[in-house]
Amino acid sequence: MSTTESRATGVETPAPFAGTFPDDFLWGTATAAYQIEGAAAEGGRGPSIWDTLSRVPGAVQGGDTGDVACDHYHRWAEDVDHLDRLGVGGYRLSISWSRVQPGGSGPLNPEGVEFYRTLLDALRARGITPFVTLYHWDLPQELEDAGGWTNRDTAYAFAEYARAMATELGDRVEVWTTLNEPWCSAYLGYASGVHAPGRTEPASALAAVHHLNLAHGLAVQAIREVLPDARCSITLNLHVLRAATGSEADADAVRQIDGLANRVFLGPLLDGAYPADVLADTASVSDWSFVLDGDLEITRRPLDVLGVNYYSTTRVGRFSGEGQPVRADGHKTTAASPWVAADDVEFLPQPGPHTAMGWNVEPAGLTELLLDLHRAYPGLPLAVTENGASFTDEVVEDPALGIQRVHDLARVAYLRDHVAAVGEAIAAGADVRGYFAWSLMDNFEWAYGYSKRFGMLHVDYPTGERTWKDSAYWYARLARSGRLPAVYEAGPQD
Ligand code: FCB
Repeated sequence: MSTTESRATGVETPAPFAGTFPDDFLWGTATAAYQIEGAAAEGGRGPSIWDTLSRVPGAVQGGDTGDVACDHYHRWAEDVDHLDRLGVGGYRLSISWSRVQPGGSGPLNPEGVEFYRTLLDALRARGITPFVTLYHWDLPQELEDAGGWTNRDTAYAFAEYARAMATELGDRVEVWTTLNEPWCSAYLGYASGVHAPGRTEPASALAAVHHLNLAHGLAVQAIREVLPDARCSITLNLHVLRAATGSEADADAVRQIDGLANRVFLGPLLDGAYPADVLADTASVSDWSFVLDGDLEITRRPLDVLGVNYYSTTRVGRFSGEGQPVRADGHKTTAASPWVAADDVEFLPQPGPHTAMGWNVEPAGLTELLLDLHRAYPGLPLAVTENGASFTDEVVEDPALGIQRVHDLARVAYLRDHVAAVGEAIAAGADVRGYFAWSLMDNFEWAYGYSKRFGMLHVDYPTGERTWKDSAYWYARLARSGRLPAVYEAGPQD
C-alpha cells in the first residue's frame, strides 16, 4: 500500500498516485482463442457455439466468422515476438476447449494440446508469464446440443476439461482463470441472444448463471487436485452503476441491476450464497430449483486473484411508465433484453466522450470498482484482466521512417487515463497486481465481427499483416519503465 505518514498524528493517509507503479506490477496484454486463432477446421478442432452462431444470417455484423480471424494459429511465433518487443511481463490467452477436446468430453486432441504447450513454452522462454483462461465463451457445440449451460452436466464436463488441461500443461501456466465474464455467457448467450448460442430464454439465462458458478468451483477443485499449488482465478465484468437521479426509485433500479450483474456472481463465489433480493426479483421467471444442496460450498473456493474487466459505466433508472423504456446498453442489438425480469429498468445514455462501441469513457469508475472490491474483500488480490478501447483507425505511411503508422492517440489517452485510474486505486490501498490491455491486436469482436478494432497492433484483414499502432509504442514504454508516459510519448522513438 502506498501511503505517507502524518508526523503529527501517526495516521496513514493515502499518497496520491505519483505516476510510478510497484516494481513487481505485471504489465500484460490479453486476447481470446476464438477472436484471434482462426484455423477453425484445422488441427483436429471441433466446432464451438461461435462457429455455429456466426453462420446464422444476421447474427454477426458483415456475416463475419472466426474461421481465419488473425490467423494466430499459424502466426503465433510472430505474435510472441511482438509481445517480447512490447516488453510485457504477462500475456492473457484463452484455450479453445473444442480444439483440445473436440466433443467437450471424451478424448483429447493431441494436436490441439500440443499447440498450446508449444505456445506456452515459447512465452516462458521469453520471460512472459502466461495467464490462461479456460473458457472465453466458445463452448463445444456438442455440449450445447445437450443443453449447453442450462444443463448441469456441462459444469461437470468443464471440470474434467480443466483437470485435463492442468494435467497436460501443468506448471507452464502461472494463473488459471476458469471463466471470462460469465455475465456475457449467461445473459447475452441465453437471454438477449446476441452472443452464442443465441437463445432468448430468460429462465435459461438464470440456470446458466448458476451452472457457470458451479463450473468455476468444480474446475478450481479439479485443478488443485492435479496441481496443489496452482493459482486460480475468475474474471468478471462487474458493472459500475450510476443512478439516473437521486430518487429512491432509481436507487432501487441500481440495487436490482447490481444484483443481476454483480452480486449474482460475487455472492456464490466469494460469500457462499445467492443474494435474497436477486431470488425475489427473479421469482416470476425462475424458482432457482437448479441450485442443489451443497452447490454453494462448491462455488465458493478460495481465489488467488480476482480478474476485473472494465470498459465503462452503466446508468440506470426505474421506468416512469411514460413512453418506451430507454435501452442504451452497448451490447444490445435486438429486442430481447439481457436483464432478466427487469423490464421496468431504463438504461440511459451516458455523457461522453464515447468510444466507437458507443461506450462512455469514465476512468474514475475503474478506481471506484477496484477500491469497492478491496473494501468488500480485503486480502483478495486483484488484477485488471481487460481494459481498452475501440476507435476508428487509419493506417498511414510515415515517409520519414519508411514504415506504416496508426496515430491512435484517442486510444493512447484512454489507456493512459485508465492506467492512471489503477494507479490511484493502488495509492488508496487497493491490492492490484497487474493490468492487461485489451487487446494485443485487432480481432473478431463477437457480434460486431471485424468492424470494431481494440488492438494495439493493427491487423490487416485478410492478409493478417500486423502494424504497430502508436498505442503499442506507448504501452511498450510503460511496460518497460513501470512509469506512466505522457500521451505524446507514443511513437517509435525509443
Ligand atoms: C469483453 C470480452 C472481450 C472483448 C472485449 C471488448 O467483454 O471479454 O473478449 O470482446 O469485451
